[in-house]
Amino acid sequence: MERDQRSGAGTLERKDVGREVKLEGWVQKRRDFGELIFVDLRDRTGIAQVVFDRERGVDAASMSRAKELRSEFVLRVTGVVHERSAETRNVRMATGDVEVVAQNVEILNRSDTPPFQIEDQVTANEDLRLKHRYLDLRRAPLARNLVLRSDVSFKVRDYLHRNGFLEIETPILTRSTPEGARDFLVPSRVSKGEFYALPQSPQLFKQILMVSGLDRYYQIARCFRDEDLRADRQPEFTQIDIEASFTDELSVQSLIEGMFAEVFPVAGIEVPAPFPRMTWQEAMDRFGIDRPDTRFGMELIDLEDAVASSQFAPFRSALAENGLVRGIVVPGGAKLSRKRLDDLTAVAKQFGATGLIWMKFEAAEVTSSIRKFMTPGDDETFRSALRAGEGDLALIIAGDRTVVWDALGQLRLRVARDEGMIPENRWNFLWVVDFPLLEWDAEGKRWAARHHPFTSPRLDHLDRLESDPGGVLARAYDVVLNGLELGGGSIRINTPELQSRMFRALGISDEEARERFGFLLEAFRYGAPPHGGIALGLDRMVMVMARASSLRDVIAFPKTASGQDLMTDAPAAVDQAQLQDLGLELRRRDA
Ligand code: AMO
Repeated sequence: MERDQRSGAGTLERKDVGREVKLEGWVQKRRDFGELIFVDLRDRTGIAQVVFDRERGVDAASMSRAKELRSEFVLRVTGVVHERSAETRNVRMATGDVEVVAQNVEILNRSDTPPFQIEDQVTANEDLRLKHRYLDLRRAPLARNLVLRSDVSFKVRDYLHRNGFLEIETPILTRSTPEGARDFLVPSRVSKGEFYALPQSPQLFKQILMVSGLDRYYQIARCFRDEDLRADRQPEFTQIDIEASFTDELSVQSLIEGMFAEVFPVAGIEVPAPFPRMTWQEAMDRFGIDRPDTRFGMELIDLEDAVASSQFAPFRSALAENGLVRGIVVPGGAKLSRKRLDDLTAVAKQFGATGLIWMKFEAAEVTSSIRKFMTPGDDETFRSALRAGEGDLALIIAGDRTVVWDALGQLRLRVARDEGMIPENRWNFLWVVDFPLLEWDAEGKRWAARHHPFTSPRLDHLDRLESDPGGVLARAYDVVLNGLELGGGSIRINTPELQSRMFRALGISDEEARERFGFLLEAFRYGAPPHGGIALGLDRMVMVMARASSLRDVIAFPKTASGQDLMTDAPAAVDQAQLQDLGLELRRRDA
């Protein structure tokens, strides 16, 4: 077969010396010395040096074609692999021991001068690269990430298939599934004035498949969420979505541990299963966040006793209003400048804190942003409560419980990153369990589901659903790696009675529940088995494995932080006729 005869440019090595090869790819670089022309030829596998030398057998027509070559021209070269001489060996190149002495070259296509150099280390700005994504994907680091992604998907499918899971597709044009984000809507032409919603996840369909008796489902599923984007969020992303019947928390968790143990080693990451488990409460108390990065310390310290008799107003009001006073100690942090402390204060405020209190523990004295409010005994009280040593810095926040957790949790991460306190090549997998079922939505003045409304409360907490909604724990679990939430899932509600009670607890009227989720409530009436599952963020998994810092680096055609696809220029306006077809009319933007 034609394909089998082609060699990968990046795979050539000493043992290929003497072989006749055919390479197909792009011109990375050309150096012309008249009688001797060197071309670096790139394909998916890497780069090889091709030599055009009249004295070494290249035909005359090919030699003159070689003179025409420019960056990104597409070539087919036939030639013989030779060992390079000691002086011309290139240790920076994977194939630097060898070169291909060309016999013939065909120019398969020409190229305009590319808008940026296609090299591993680029300086061109990301917007330009996203606009010409096809060129950016020719760069080895990005191409490698897509190869990795393909390998990961393959391993996942293989693992789940071997474990008896069926791959089943669910609709893209559907109804809203509440996962806490806004929906992308698609207007219907046939039913004017009505809309499909793109799925935020296949949650309801996978549960219905359990009712159908297809008791082990998975899908590498595209999900759509119209939410504010960050480095670890895209408006469309991919989940490894899993559901099983007759299962429980531990079975789902060990299924995932088994999967990770097969998948992560593809990127040289060993997975020590089983993963440690931490309750949500412990995660918040120790790290201020429900996805703790446990690779370093700087845990939150409870200072409520230490400030019990303080007259400082923020401490007094935090204690009076059932809030928290917590601190973290930055080892050696007393050297941080005022400018750095001001920056950290801004971070704290961004997460809702009214301010940030700092204390520097230096040999003779404690300097502090609240020095003038401190009494003589306070130095020692704080020093011992914080277990602060000489040269340490404490960052303290007083206030509302969630604000203190949020702000200190983020400060801890920021300081650790800035100060280089996070060890590399440590892979701390962790299950976070025992989440509260509900959280208070202060804006909407109602309880909201922390995961989604289909998660089962713990059975021993059922009787408190109405009397103490905030105290009910869920049968939910998240899998976290180095502070990144890789996935989340739960054991589900499977009776119409409990599902209706849950909707009521969320302030959803029976009528609204019937209107939005009637099909689920009805399905539950026909023998819904106990079931549960999980969804893993495939993009996030590959991002970690590729040691990338943005999801954009592991998605072939990603969107920018403002949700745009710069290559196709989406989203875009549509013409009047199309709107008319859909029965839609746009209001003027300024209306
Ligand atoms: P959840 O909303 O926690 O659960 O999503 C599961 C995982 O999907 C990934 N993820 C994202 N990745 C990239 N961009 C985004 N915008 C984004 N949002 C989520 C995360 C997350 O952990 N139906 C439930 C799962 C279940 O209960 O089985 C769900 O979707 O890695």
